[in-house]
Amino acid sequence: MDSIKKTDNFVFQTYLRQGKAFVRGEGTSLWDEDGKEYIDFLAGIAVCSLGHCHPRITEAINRQASTLVHVSNLFYTMPQADLASKLCEKSFADRVFFANSGAEANEAAIKLSRRYFQKRGDKNRFKIITMEQSFHGRTMATLTATGQDKIKEGFYPLLEGFSYVPFNDIDALKNEIDETICAVMLEPVQGEGGIIPADPDYLKAVRDLCNDKGILLIFDEIQCGMGRCGTLFAHEIYNVIPDIMTLAKALGNGLPIGAMLATQDAATGFDFGSHATTFGGTPLATAAALEVVNIISEETFLDQVRQKGQYFKDKLEKLKEKHSRVVDVRGEGLLLGLEVDKDAGFFVGQLMKKGFIINGIQDKVLRFAPPLIIEEKEIDRLISVLDSLL
Ligand SMILES: Cc1ncc(COP(=O)(O)O)c(C=O)c1O
Repeated sequence: MDSIKKTDNFVFQTYLRQGKAFVRGEGTSLWDEDGKEYIDFLAGIAVCSLGHCHPRITEAINRQASTLVHVSNLFYTMPQADLASKLCEKSFADRVFFANSGAEANEAAIKLSRRYFQKRGDKNRFKIITMEQSFHGRTMATLTATGQDKIKEGFYPLLEGFSYVPFNDIDALKNEIDETICAVMLEPVQGEGGIIPADPDYLKAVRDLCNDKGILLIFDEIQCGMGRCGTLFAHEIYNVIPDIMTLAKALGNGLPIGAMLATQDAATGFDFGSHATTFGGTPLATAAALEVVNIISEETFLDQVRQKGQYFKDKLEKLKEKHSRVVDVRGEGLLLGLEVDKDAGFFVGQLMKKGFIINGIQDKVLRFAPPLIIEEKEIDRLISVLDSLL
């Protein structure tokens, strides 16, 4: 039985997979079972941002795998300590909680926000406002936080204490706030919702509003963070700092790891025993993530992400001028979306046949989230195929 048949027979049928099995990856390329090469413009959904099997990450994994893989959080390990201090040094944060996925990092952020107020005796302040079209994960709390009905179908009753407002609408947010709200949670650039960046004035106004009302501000940077938008964290583009930030995806370049970062003040919401996980922050995952942060933080790395992001976006804008089927071009850095009039799936399938991997979101948006090491000539090749398909 080949891998496709075996998977379809034995794995839960929860994923609508494209009929391809991959066997190898290197840099921006993937190879399927027949030896055919593809240029990867999706990077495992914004995960393998340094490319597949980056030699330095492979080295870090190999070294750590042959030294110490797991001991649990009952003990200390150096890779976890190094990664936490590095993330704090590079961000607004003072403390990090390690998890294994994006949803778990967001669960931690939701729990921290509630407990921050409950610990102070403010038991009625437990509600969180999130954005329409947002995506925060698939656990019960994070799917409740997610502002898309289709994710919730069949899972009612949902968790109590969430409400949703339109993104980029400050008046709607103002109207929703009262003394029961503990946090506002948003993605600075919405990913699954269709690659929708926050308006700079909006994000600043959200920060001011949260300050005024004493509410915690959570940024979910699971998709848009870790260099994807041309700065280490997407909120740096906006010059707006949250109280809590969540990371996952590209943090491990493929090894599962999530993180919740918080200011010293917000972090006081958790005490000994108030939150925990067996695997969070294993030496293996944190050793890989530490190397990821080191590489992304190198002198010119983010300059080239911004430069190539602009190059790519300009090319997409040209397609928009030329083809009436293109409705919009959106995004920051190398997280870009091309909205077409209909049937994103057609383009995904055709591009796959021609050796390019992308995906479609919200039926009409082509998402481009290539490894941040993508080259201009690879972007040119994709644009030329897309041009002829349009
Ligand atoms: C913005 C955002 N938050 C949370 C998640 C959930 O992450 P995970 O799938 O690792 O649980 C995702 C995944 O796509 C995401 O894009």
